[in-house]
Amino acid sequence: MTKTIVGLDFGHGVIRGAEVMPEHGRQQATLVRYHEIPVPLDAIHEGVVIDEDAVVGALETLRGAAGFGTKRAVIGIGGQQVLIRELMMPAMSMQHVREALPFKAQDLLPLPVEDAVLDFYPIEEVEDADGPSLRGLLVAATKQSVIANMNAAKRAGFKVADIDLIPFAIIRAQPQSDRAGVKLFVHVGATSTCVVVAADGVPQFVRLLPNGGHDLTTALIEQLGLRADRADDMKRRYGVKSDPSDPQSEFVARVNAEGARDIVQAARSTVAFYENAHTEPANAVNGIVLSGGGSLLRGLSDEIGRATGLPVTTGRGDAGIRIGHQVDEVALLSSGITPAVAVGLALRSVA
Ligand SMILES: Nc1ncnc2c1ncn2[C@@H]1O[C@H](COP(=O)(O)OP(=O)(O)OP(=O)(O)O)[C@@H](O)[C@H]1O
Ligand SMILES: [Mg+2]
Repeated sequence: MTKTIVGLDFGHGVIRGAEVMPEHGRQQATLVRYHEIPVPLDAIHEGVVIDEDAVVGALETLRGAAGFGTKRAVIGIGGQQVLIRELMMPAMSMQHVREALPFKAQDLLPLPVEDAVLDFYPIEEVEDADGPSLRGLLVAATKQSVIANMNAAKRAGFKVADIDLIPFAIIRAQPQSDRAGVKLFVHVGATSTCVVVAADGVPQFVRLLPNGGHDLTTALIEQLGLRADRADDMKRRYGVKSDPSDPQSEFVARVNAEGARDIVQAARSTVAFYENAHTEPANAVNGIVLSGGGSLLRGLSDEIGRATGLPVTTGRGDAGIRIGHQVDEVALLSSGITPAVAVGLALRSVA
């Protein structure tokens, strides 16, 4: 019998859980249950559990409230605790690749290899000067961050079936049609932003930035002396676009634009970098897909479009999978609910 699995996304002040029934036979993958629950803001940072007790408590509440039909879960990792780099390995079995990885990776890592969890994600076989080789992505995460997230999930009664990279989940969460060709995915969270180039859905290059929508709110508090709730409200109302009839909007928009500059710049430089390294016309980036709460910033999409000269669309966030009858589809797709990462993580077991 096909079993469901829960994707767990540790966000900023929130944990999201998506239970997915994998595709089987003619039945497409289905979102069976979705639930999210608040946690203290400092309990999780950039997707890594900091306050384990607080997260365990929240996860137990989440399990109860959502009524998940399974304990099996996929958890995500991302943020600054993860390093992703292109790496060439000699063509050999994945078992041998994994054995050789610590030796190959040591020089590329900013930490001792024994403090990291390593993996290799093959992209394609190529012929280079050393003979047949595998071009792929080296993935290294700090052991500490992986253990922290796994422990929290286990203590709350989940069985961790898999750990996956949030950047990969982001791509998986987009419908097939939005993944066609070479696309740049820009996922703006609260405390982190992830920029990924993918060719027909296969990740080619990943960049993780340590800033997101929350940094704009903080800048408004610090620079304009606004209260936290008002700063967040102002941020959403004006985004990077000022309203000529409202003088206050000019200050807010300026602070927002400054805060968003790194994200716009990262999108532009990633497209340039990728196209420089892969000059065949078929490798030209042909569109940008935005996701994450921070990407809803008014005017951000236009700024990214202007900076890159590429068409920008907003991702659906639910992979276009079938929504089960127990899920309130209208609430799910309403602004402010961002199930994409949790759904993408759960879909790992489907892919
Ligand atoms: N309409 C909007 N305009 C501007 N910003 C918005 C809007 N809606 C949500 N945000 C911002 O999006 C951010 C939250 O995004 P998201 O839910 O993707 O982050 P997260 O997953 O909790 O955090 P992280 O991925 O960094 O751990 C917040 O900073 C929030 O203020
Ligand atoms: Mg997030």
